[in-house]
Amino acid sequence: MTGRVVLVGAGPGDPELITLRGARMLAEADVVVYDRLVAPTLLDLVPAGAERIYVGKEPGRAPVPQRDIEGLLVERALGGCVVIRLKGGDPFVFGRGGEEVAACAAVGIPCEVVPGVSAAVAAPAAAGIPVTHRGVARSFAVVTGSNAHDDELDLSKVAGTDTLVVLMAAGRLARTCEDLIVAGRPANEPAAIVQWAWTPDQRSVAGTLADLPLLAEAASIGPPATLVVGSVAALPGSLGPEVSRGRLPATRRSRP
Ligand SMILES: C[S@@+](CC[C@H](N)C(=O)[O-])C[C@H]1O[C@@H](n2cnc3c(N)ncnc32)[C@H](O)[C@@H]1O
Repeated sequence: MTGRVVLVGAGPGDPELITLRGARMLAEADVVVYDRLVAPTLLDLVPAGAERIYVGKEPGRAPVPQRDIEGLLVERALGGCVVIRLKGGDPFVFGRGGEEVAACAAVGIPCEVVPGVSAAVAAPAAAGIPVTHRGVARSFAVVTGSNAHDDELDLSKVAGTDTLVVLMAAGRLARTCEDLIVAGRPANEPAAIVQWAWTPDQRSVAGTLADLPLLAEAASIGPPATLVVGSVAALPGSLGPEVSRGRLPATRRSRP
């Protein structure tokens, strides 16, 4: 009998950010195929006898190519297994979940999706930054800062959005900030970057589009990191949760 594939969003960083449904699905796994940014302790929810397969991608490097991952899901499900595909954040937000659903559909394997808490909103939230705020930001857009797939993003298409959230932002931060200024965002617009949100290694740096790249470099901010651009990044209380947890961020905002 054919098994099934369930794409489960693990949320970012903290294992408590998985949904109840996602946690329940993990307990049903015969096989779990998991990514790099998934909290390692989530694997404790998987039955002891289940097969665990790591297929993590690193910035610019994919030891297990996407086609092979899809082949693995299909092969194990055709063998009758309940296959849990555990992905960081939400499976459909820059997670290639759609390709995996399509691969299952192509051979008639039942496939379902359990959404996850995306870093797109959760990483800013970890630094106390809301992506919308009454009277300040009524729209937000989520884009990628990576050009790993040779598909350069036309930032002018989203430049008018109140809040811009840029995933995979660390590798090309200077270029992204520069492109946003060229696309019409003010150089003195508030911007913040949050690294390893919801983990003990969380750090964030805030400044402006013009000075954030240098501030982030000085603080050695690297992947995984999420950039948030807009007035919300300067609201009173931003960077608050870190302070209230008693861990001052590496660098405070450069503005007064
Ligand atoms: C390939 S994308 C996957 C996004 C994921 N599907 C989601 O919905 O959160 C990976 C990017 O998400 C962001 N990200 C994931 N986890 C993060 C974390 N704990 N802190 C900050 N950013 C994170 C970073 O921008 C990272 O480069």
